[in-house]
Amino acid sequence: MRTVKILMEGADEPDPLSAERYVARGGGAGLRKALGMSPEAIISEVKAARLLGRGGAAYPAGNKWEQLLAIEGFPKHIVCNADEGEPGTFKDRFIMERAPFLLIEGMAIAGRVFGSSTGYIYVRGEYRSVQRGLAGAMDSARAANLLGRDILGSGLDFDVEIVSGAGAYVCGENSALLNSTQGLAGKPRIKPPHLAEVGLFGAPTLVNNVESFANVPAIVNMGGKAFLDLGHPESGGTKLVCLSGHAARPGVYEIPLGAVTLRELVFSQEYGGGMRPGSRLGFLHLGGQSGPVVQPALLDTVYSYSDLRKAGLAVGSGAVVAVGDEVPLLDYLAAVSRFFVRESCGKCSPCRNGNPAVLKCLLDLAEPGHADRGTLDMLRSLCEVMTQASFCGLGRAATAALKSAWKAFPEEIERNAMRPSASAGRFPEAIW
Ligand SMILES: Cc1cc2nc3c(=O)[nH]c(=O)nc-3n(C[C@H](O)[C@H](O)[C@H](O)COP(=O)(O)O)c2cc1C
Ligand code: SF4
Repeated sequence: MRTVKILMEGADEPDPLSAERYVARGGGAGLRKALGMSPEAIISEVKAARLLGRGGAAYPAGNKWEQLLAIEGFPKHIVCNADEGEPGTFKDRFIMERAPFLLIEGMAIAGRVFGSSTGYIYVRGEYRSVQRGLAGAMDSARAANLLGRDILGSGLDFDVEIVSGAGAYVCGENSALLNSTQGLAGKPRIKPPHLAEVGLFGAPTLVNNVESFANVPAIVNMGGKAFLDLGHPESGGTKLVCLSGHAARPGVYEIPLGAVTLRELVFSQEYGGGMRPGSRLGFLHLGGQSGPVVQPALLDTVYSYSDLRKAGLAVGSGAVVAVGDEVPLLDYLAAVSRFFVRESCGKCSPCRNGNPAVLKCLLDLAEPGHADRGTLDMLRSLCEVMTQASFCGLGRAATAALKSAWKAFPEEIERNAMRPSASAGRFPEAIW
């Protein structure tokens, strides 16, 4: 297995919040180089790197930057999505705590590209200590002239503000995040217009994830092609993976994209070290609550955006939850469903009413004598309607884990529904 460190290279540094030490070990070189390049040349490196957005949707960062550059309008805002509300995901926290200058430098390079003077980092509200540490790192970056006026003598003025998140999962959705940043209710906006045209305070806006920005200094410094070569031909670089659940050694691991299988990630001594004593792997849950459930038969799938996609799976947020076979699948799915019931913002009916109805079906399916084929039909329709008709990604993806689990383990989902019961065709109470 290849080992490559881009984001974790300085992670063992005893004082990760000191910009002076960051610069002493070569930090800031990407920004220094970017200050002498044209915006188009910087974007061309980001495109060559094939950096896919690390926030979950895997949209190519270079294309996003190119589209924003082509849009007329000034000022253009730079926003970092550090809401990290996805359960099982803690890699942005790792970057902000252990490698905050990669994020700051990446945002300053974006400032150079778009001629922006201010960037905003929307940090999950529960991450109070992270916010304090980041504020300290920003002060240190100002002292080292990586932020502030006339950055590194280039004439660029760029600074960053921290915005504390509003404590809702949906605030991680980029339009809800901008509403929340503006002081409005954190609810998604209708799109189009796209945020690149009408974003923060109505101005053209770039929203990227923490890990996406943090990769930009390396891309500019080593060149997009070299970055691409470190990862997969279709998606350059590395990925921070958050391993949790019943793995023996949970934590954040940096893996070159395309170099490690799911099995190696969970079971090799270099990474997860297998399951904790007494536990045997039942399934993996990838990419967050709205990501797919993976049966052990797919463990030899390579961890890259395209290999996972071809297997019907997804990288998503980078979460990998290893769940022991002592956990009943329907109980797990009901816990996922409860999360969506709680986090639905209530704006649209497919999500507001659909999630409680899904939960009711799952609870019925888990109890012998409470479900029948009508429950399965209802569940199928709910999955379809919610995916097709929900207003934002939260509702559209809320049944993704269920759908993949159903495909992978049909018997476990349907077992109790195949027995005769008195409730045939009954609609879940929650939607009526
Ligand atoms: C319900 C919901 C929650 C989301 N939460 C996050 C989040 O916590 N962090 C994040 O970076 N992206 C999150 N996203 C994705 C963002 O909308 C957006 O795609 C991302 O910030 C873009 O950055 P990237 O292109 O660098 O990935 C979420 C999307 C949805 C629909
Ligand atoms: S799908 Fe609808 S109710 Fe659910 S979070 Fe999005 S806008 Fe709100």
